[in-house]
This record gives sequence, structure tokens and C-alpha cells, in this order.
Amino acid sequence: MKILVVGGGGREHALVWKISQSPRVKKIYAAPGNAGIAQLAECLDIKPTDIKSLLDFALKEKIDLTVVGPEAPLVAGIVDEFQAANLKIFGPRQSAAELEGSKVFSKDLLRKNAIPSATYKTFRDPQSAREYLKKIDPPYVIKADGLASGKGVLICMDNQAGEEAVENLMEKKSFGAAGETIIIEEFLTGEEISILSITDGQTIVVLEPSQDHKRAFDNDQGPNTGGMGAYSPPPFLKPKLMNQIIREILVPTIHAMKRMNRPYRGVLYAGLILTPTGPKVLEFNVRFGDPETQPLMIRLKSDLVPLLLAATEGRLEKSNVKVEWTPQTSVCVVMASGGYPGSYQKGLPIKGLNNANQTKTATVFHAGTALKGSEIITTGGRVLGITALGQDIKQARQHAYELIKKISWDGAFYRNDIGMKALNR
Ligand code: AMP
Ligand code: GLY
Repeated sequence: MKILVVGGGGREHALVWKISQSPRVKKIYAAPGNAGIAQLAECLDIKPTDIKSLLDFALKEKIDLTVVGPEAPLVAGIVDEFQAANLKIFGPRQSAAELEGSKVFSKDLLRKNAIPSATYKTFRDPQSAREYLKKIDPPYVIKADGLASGKGVLICMDNQAGEEAVENLMEKKSFGAAGETIIIEEFLTGEEISILSITDGQTIVVLEPSQDHKRAFDNDQGPNTGGMGAYSPPPFLKPKLMNQIIREILVPTIHAMKRMNRPYRGVLYAGLILTPTGPKVLEFNVRFGDPETQPLMIRLKSDLVPLLLAATEGRLEKSNVKVEWTPQTSVCVVMASGGYPGSYQKGLPIKGLNNANQTKTATVFHAGTALKGSEIITTGGRVLGITALGQDIKQARQHAYELIKKISWDGAFYRNDIGMKALNR
């Protein structure tokens, strides 16, 4: 098979790495890929949102399966376009990708179907949003309706922060049209977990659970990021709780989408919070998580390709694809550019990668990297994901942090406490 992976982050490197181990795969392309992906796939100079060029390429090269990493092309309808051209592509159609593309759509779906989530109200003009803020007590959470690269969620600890959020989103339009409509929702507390599943719209294959670390610095301090590290599995997620999540959240969501004539196919990623009154949905994503995919892929023993193909072809139930995991624990620690998630320098040479790319217990997944001459340089905020296995979280952490110490560039930073949430519980 020839496979095209759309994207160029750590998630896509982990997917390409796993796909490259499939005996069914002859050739992998990535658009645009990165310096790590380039060791396993042919990288194309095409942006993930340039659907037309991706389609032209896939038709010309007779790609057997396209796997989409980021949400933007999914929300823009890449799956619809590929399907119309009779090409196989893994992911939800545009109408189903609204589950991530519009928070109002997903919150309305959750409420209508009594799926546990924070209570909320939707606002389309700043005046009524301000009036509502006067009536409620902080903390509360204000969210832009549309895609805002993970930055459209503002936790407001007091009314001033709330006022500012309304002004920034709705009046200054800091996220453009994405913030024209907002949601004001109840602030929830609890441990956050990521439940990724693969579905063809009928059958759900739930992947192993994982936990992300969204804040920039140790002990969950600093600003929210795309994710500074993740591990799998969280030991406190016992089978009974997983079953409750499947029964109360995943299954009713897939059924609701089917009833709305938006059959859901692809990855359904539920970002959940374990509150004192049970698990609740914080958000849905319509794609693999980043960095969650990195610790999941190194734990996945079985071939990923038959699973993606069966979901794409709508035959998950019949095909009975085997999904096997190592019982070992995995951890991925992200190395980021100094200044991330704010502004940061690019183009810095990374030292120590040559003798560190892959050890017996750890793998370096690239995110914002590129090859410049014979050097690998930084090109993004999240640069590398050092991903390791161990008998338990302690050993996995040890393997990852040992490898990290060999890699460096000017201003690089990482969290020292990835996976500690598992030890502290
Ligand atoms: P989201 O993109 O909706 O997952 O939000 C990003 C982050 O904001 C989440 O990972 C949580 O840490 C936080 N968050 C979102 N909604 C809430 C909420 N209702 N209560 C508390 N924290 C929240
Ligand atoms: N790690 C969070 C996300 O993929 O959205």
C-alpha cells in the first residue's frame, strides 16, 4: 500500500513510525512532514490545508489510504473531497468534524443527549454576554465557538478576566470569526484524561487511555500549551470507570451523530475531566491527540494499518481487527523552544540527536524540526517528543529523561514532572 499522512508534528511522526512497521505498507508520503518523518517517508512541500494539492497528489500517485493528522483540513472538508474522488481517507467528513470545529455544536449535542458536561450558555453579542457575567460568580470558562489553535479557552478567575475575554474574543476579534460566538460555561475541577477511540460510525474501538500535561511548566503552572507531555495508561482509570465513560459518553455521542445524519468516522478523542460527580466532557477532538499519540503508538503492538483501513471502509465489526497493547507504561516528554507558547526563536541547531535518535527503550519523535544542510534545526514551538517505555511509570520516566539529557539547543525547555500525576495518586 501507499499511504499519505497529512501533517508534520510529533503526532504525525508517531503515526508514520507505526505505519512504517506494517508489512502491508510499501511507501509513505507526508505533507509536509519534518526532519524525523523524512527518515521514514518522502516529505512533500504541501500544506495540510492545501486540500486541492493534496488531492491532486493522491490521485496522481494512486494513494491507497490518506491519514489526516490535524483538525483544520478535516473541518475544511478534506474527507468529503477525497471521497468524491473515490480515494480512501481516514477521518470524519466536514459535517461530523463540527464536533471539534464548533463548540456550540458539540455542547448542544451533549446537552440534548444528556451526556455529562459543564453547564453553559451561548452568546452571539457582547452586550448580552456582559449582562450574563454580572449574574454569575467566577470562576467560569469562556470559549470561542470556532477553531483557535487551542487558544480559544479562557479560564476566568474573576469578573475582570471575564470582561476582558468577552472584549478580546467578540470585539477585538483576536481569533477572527472563531470568537464571534462564545460559550460561557461552568468551571469544573478534577483530573483531566484523554480517551481516544477509532470508530466507523457503528463500532467503537477504544484505545488505551492517556493523560496530557497542558500547562507549560512543572506542577501545572504557566500558560496552556498544545501539550507538554503525556503518558499511558493513567493507573487510576480502572475498568469500571472506563466502562462508564464508554457507556455514558462515547456510545451516546456516536449514536447522536448517526441520528443527526452526520455519521462519525475516524478518531473520536474525548477530553474528559473526572469530577467528584463523575466523568464529564471538556471537549471533543476529531483527530489523534498530540502528544497523546506518541505514548500510544509505542504501546501499540498490533498493526495500525488494518485498523485504520477497517474504520475507513466501515467494516470494524465484521473485520474484528486485533488491537494489542504492551502492558508496559509509556511516557512522552516534549522538548520545546524557549518562549513557547509565546514567541520563540526558530532555526536553532539541535545538538546530540545523532546518538540519541532511538535507544532500546526510547524513541525521539520530531515535531518542529527541519533539515538544513547536514544539521537538524528547530522550526516550531514543540520541537521533539522523547517517548519511552518502562515496566512502570517510574522506569518509563527514567528512560525518557536519560535520553533528554543528551539532546540540547539554545533555550530548550521541558517539564520535569511528566507522569508524576500517576505516581502522586
Ligand atoms: P478545551 O480546549 O476545551 O479542552 O480546553 C482547554 C483546557 O481548558 C482544558 O484542557 C482544561 O484544562 C480547561 N478547561 C476547559 N473547559 C473547562 C471547564 N469547564 N472547567 C475547567 N477547566 C476547563
Ligand atoms: N493534546 C491535546 C490535543 O491534542 O488537543
